[in-house]
Amino acid sequence: MIYRLLFLYFSVVHAELEMVQVLVRHGDRAPSFTYPLDEFNVAEHFPRGYSQLTQRGFRQAKEVGVFLRNQYKDLIDGFDRKETLIRSSDKDRCIETAMGITQTLFPDDIVPVHTYSHYKHDLLLKPNSVRCRRVDELVNADKSWLSAQVDIEHRDLFSLLSQKTGWHVTGSKISDVFNVLYRKHANGVAQPDWVNHVLANVTELKRQYRSIQFNSDEKSKMRTGYLLGQITKDMVHREETGRKMIVYATHDATVTSMMYSLGVSDHQLIPYTAALIVELHRLNGKSFVKILNRSSPESAPRELRLPGCDVLCPMETYQEFVSTRIISNKEEHDVICQNFEAPEIELPSQELPKNLPEEDHLFSTLITVGSLSYDLYANLKAKN
Ligand SMILES: *[C@@H]1O[C@H](CO)[C@@H](O)[C@H](O)[C@H]1NC(C)=O
Ligand SMILES: *[C@@H]1O[C@H](CO)[C@@H](O)[C@H](O)[C@H]1NC(C)=O
Repeated sequence: MIYRLLFLYFSVVHAELEMVQVLVRHGDRAPSFTYPLDEFNVAEHFPRGYSQLTQRGFRQAKEVGVFLRNQYKDLIDGFDRKETLIRSSDKDRCIETAMGITQTLFPDDIVPVHTYSHYKHDLLLKPNSVRCRRVDELVNADKSWLSAQVDIEHRDLFSLLSQKTGWHVTGSKISDVFNVLYRKHANGVAQPDWVNHVLANVTELKRQYRSIQFNSDEKSKMRTGYLLGQITKDMVHREETGRKMIVYATHDATVTSMMYSLGVSDHQLIPYTAALIVELHRLNGKSFVKILNRSSPESAPRELRLPGCDVLCPMETYQEFVSTRIISNKEEHDVICQNFEAPEIELPSQELPKNLPEEDHLFSTLITVGSLSYDLYANLKAKN
């Protein structure tokens, strides 16, 4: 027994952190608009304008940089462009969040923030804006189902909100209501009394409408399957690339969906600058993945477990778990999203893409849409 304990003790001591990937939501932001009956001067309370990161949000980002610097000081020492990659969604509030993080993470260095030319096509960090017919279908069906209940249950709330805002408020409008009321509240903007009475219920409804956008393996795969593939690939190829740290600055939708992709969601809203952290460890010659949830400066990062795995999850078990949740490229995303009609011609079979379940027989062809070529996997054969 004592030898076992000693063995365990030394095992733990020799666990070595090799790489960390951080998916972080942007900091506090201004509302996107306000409601018709609001007498609100946006410039007075949000001088950086609608939808933009606030000063408070920038301070939150700098706090994340301090946290990462302390937490990973044994892994990285100053900025090295081979070791560290900072990648942001192409929204100003995310880029500025990434800048806030680098300012305190690497105070003595000039650090580039990489992004993608257009957020509507950024499958990695703004997947919620990328066209996906199948996920729209699934989400719209769930939305109708939820609204049918909510619109009856909260009839009085919605009638009050309609009267106060000048909008016709039903369940499907709740995100817009939350957008204004919550973001003002978070920034201490004075609001009429009725807001205090409704805010908790509006937030709870927002949570329900948020979670139905991602709350299944199928939905989350179409949103963050590609990012999950990239995160996994970067761990697998760590030795060739020399990468030690990747920071992704993104949106609540991406973090929420990734929690479902990894099977660790608790169905809650994601706070500003909350981070989902994926660590790669080496222990007795083997690789392990550890997932952490760091949701605020007030609480220490919390270890999460992949379903059926230990906190230190063996790489092979991790890979097996994610294998059916990963999307390898844009073409595969288009197929799974059913973005194109399948061509009617018979197609020659091709080698299977690596990250798909083996029983799927895929066929491939090249079609041309306008000036764009898509290597399209069509005719995804029904399983049986
Ligand atoms: C908020 O929801 C609770 C529980 O559903 C309900 O009892 C309460 O009346 C609601 N408050 C408002 C202002 O609608
Ligand atoms: C992350 O941690 C916060 C508190 O630190 C907690 O409220 C939240 O539910 C956690 N999320 C998950 C997915 O465990």
